[in-house]
Amino acid sequence: MENARPNWTSRFAFILASVGSAVGLGNIWRFPYIMGQYGGAVFLFVYLAIILTICFIPLVAELAVGKITQKECIGAYESVSPKLKIIGALNPITGILISSFYFVVGGWIINYIVLGFINPSVNDYAQYFTNFTQNPVSTCVYTILFLFICIFFTARGIKKGIEFANNVLMPLFAVILVGLIIFSLNLPNAYQGLEYMFKPDFSKICPQMFLAALGQALFTLSIGMGALLTYGSYIKEDKSITKSAYTIIFSDTLFAIMAGIMIFPAIFSFGLEPNSGAGLVFVTLPHIFSQIPHGNIVAIAFFLLLSAAAITSGISILEASVAAFIERLHLSRMKSSILLFCIVSSIAIPASLSFGVLSSFTIAGRGIFDFLDFATSNLLMPLNTLFLCILAGWFLKIKGKMFINNEFIAKIFDLGLKFIVPIILVFLLYIGLR
Ligand code: PHE
Repeated sequence: MENARPNWTSRFAFILASVGSAVGLGNIWRFPYIMGQYGGAVFLFVYLAIILTICFIPLVAELAVGKITQKECIGAYESVSPKLKIIGALNPITGILISSFYFVVGGWIINYIVLGFINPSVNDYAQYFTNFTQNPVSTCVYTILFLFICIFFTARGIKKGIEFANNVLMPLFAVILVGLIIFSLNLPNAYQGLEYMFKPDFSKICPQMFLAALGQALFTLSIGMGALLTYGSYIKEDKSITKSAYTIIFSDTLFAIMAGIMIFPAIFSFGLEPNSGAGLVFVTLPHIFSQIPHGNIVAIAFFLLLSAAAITSGISILEASVAAFIERLHLSRMKSSILLFCIVSSIAIPASLSFGVLSSFTIAGRGIFDFLDFATSNLLMPLNTLFLCILAGWFLKIKGKMFINNEFIAKIFDLGLKFIVPIILVFLLYIGLR
């Protein structure tokens, strides 16, 4: 049995795994479609402003809490007071709820890879997507398959599982992404897509855009459910947290922009609309692929890219709970992974059925899948981030000067951690609950 407190083999392994956690469906599926809904470049500018300033603070805080306490989420809160255990437990609970809809999308991706290989002549991808998501057997099977792939790596432990998966999948991801960008930029009228991404129309700015950008930034950086706290707790030596945080933010943002550069030129080249929402990747893009020579190869490459990103993120979502089970329930890593597999399946299966047989079952007016997405992204992740800032700033008394050399910036960090970010998060929660 692997001991309960493993460590990363190197600083590089830690950064790669954290970037692997951050870069996921949030970058390639969610970011382009939200950008499409909010009018392109202007959203990008608002998003960049938020991710480079406000998000840096909770990101450093989450990594630092893990590193300083050397505990998983529940233990980190418990180290201040046993009564705070419950608050810490909200992290793995959030992770289980996120995985339950994230893995459904992971299942769709695997299905589209298979589709690329069997290459049927699909004429109408909107219809295909609806039929597939309404078919109870196939959605369940693919969801469980995706969950199984991710849990397989967490069950194997830090070095043989998590590091191995990131070492293989992240380079694969980067290579395919660059290849697809070259392909996309060579399509006729590709420049229109670039214009849409980089030429802002500031008249489209609106308050909801700021909230959408902040919510997206927290989600894409994996802040607010304990994944990075757990990864931070596996850091042993004194490694610079701020440098790691910058690397994570920089790489995540770069990959999100690259995903846009891959997707928008293709969309504009085919005269399609960029604001088709969540179906952008599963309906609009496959439609484009089906119209180009050897499109199924491009489609396979694209969905392989998505699966690589989703697996490395999915692993980190699961690891927060696996670590909590190992340390709280004193189970082996294997047993913790099996337990988590059973728990996540029991929620993910109903979520995957919520587009078909369970579509009439709603919670607070939403289908199960939509409710899980809404409850985690708009409520639980901001709430956990709020608790984290309070834990780090007020209880553990984490100060900017511990990692930042510039005194002025360190002071701003302290102010941000104790006041500014918590106030913004309370506001976000208020709006999210309305
Ligand atoms: N950041 C991941 C993405 O962009 C999702 C994620 C959320 C991963 C929370 C871990 C924790 O897809």
